[in-house]
Amino acid sequence: MDFVPIPTVAGGYSTVLADPPWRFKNRTGKVAPEHKRLGRYETMDLESIKALPVADVCAENAHLYLWVPNAMLPVGLEVMEAWGFRYTSNIVWAKRRKDGGPDGRGVGFYFRNVTELLLFGVRGHLRTLAPGRSQVNMIETRKREHSRKPDEQYALIESCSPGPYLELFARYPQPGWSVWGSEAAEDVVPQGRVFKGYEGGEIAVPEIRPGERLPEATELAIGMVLRDEYESGDTINDIAAIHDYSIARTRKLLKVAGTEFRSRGPAKPPTRAELDAAS
Ligand SMILES: C[S@@+](CC[C@H](N)C(=O)[O-])C[C@H]1O[C@@H](n2cnc3c(N)ncnc32)[C@H](O)[C@@H]1O
Repeated sequence: MDFVPIPTVAGGYSTVLADPPWRFKNRTGKVAPEHKRLGRYETMDLESIKALPVADVCAENAHLYLWVPNAMLPVGLEVMEAWGFRYTSNIVWAKRRKDGGPDGRGVGFYFRNVTELLLFGVRGHLRTLAPGRSQVNMIETRKREHSRKPDEQYALIESCSPGPYLELFARYPQPGWSVWGSEAAEDVVPQGRVFKGYEGGEIAVPEIRPGERLPEATELAIGMVLRDEYESGDTINDIAAIHDYSIARTRKLLKVAGTEFRSRGPAKPPTRAELDAAS
């Protein structure tokens, strides 16, 4: 497989964080498209992810933090093993709304996912640093752009695991870390940065009063978030219900964001195999 070499450091990295571009099947059993329109990044098949020479750049005693979507948990464990780590624990990222409640805008076929898992594995023998032993295995923050993981992860990892640190599939430079990934260079604007002026913090899906007029830029910003949900399989009715918007408002916001609407033919019920693949 062709890839840019992973950086190395004398003695190897003691801690690796990775958020692979998993390729997964959607609820109809098809491989989820990489949505050029949405500006989403390329994905990698499982064998290519497993084949990355992570063990070669790690210290003999090392920690691995590996993000894995809920539906891909068994595959995440496989990757962890292939990279030479044994699974020991995990950290749950609970996505919160501004008011602290669960962020119900997640997607999922069986349940609406409001959490993501950061698997924790060890190579050789390496305990967590002293603060790790009082660190709870949960990060509670607000969701940001598509696929963007919470910045709080860095402070948590640095307090629990020793450097040198390496982030694989990074999208942003991180002080004190080596970063690697097709969008990791400083001059690359990461795909999936969906709209200007939104750098985390305030989630851009506010309450809107009936009849309230919004500035164009706000409509576009909200529309992009809704389009992401629509492209992930939610219906207009779902989206309207989640945000407590009218159907007309939801449709308008989606339209402003250039959403291509699905035709409304009768939906074919998924087969058992398709349901299994999507779970
Ligand atoms: C899930 S995203 C990482 C998101 C990141 N953790 C964040 O919080 O913003 C996966 C990244 O892997 C990159 N990628 C895809 N194929 C790659 C490849 N063959 N080699 C290196 N990076 C790749 C994608 O462009 C994307 O930036």
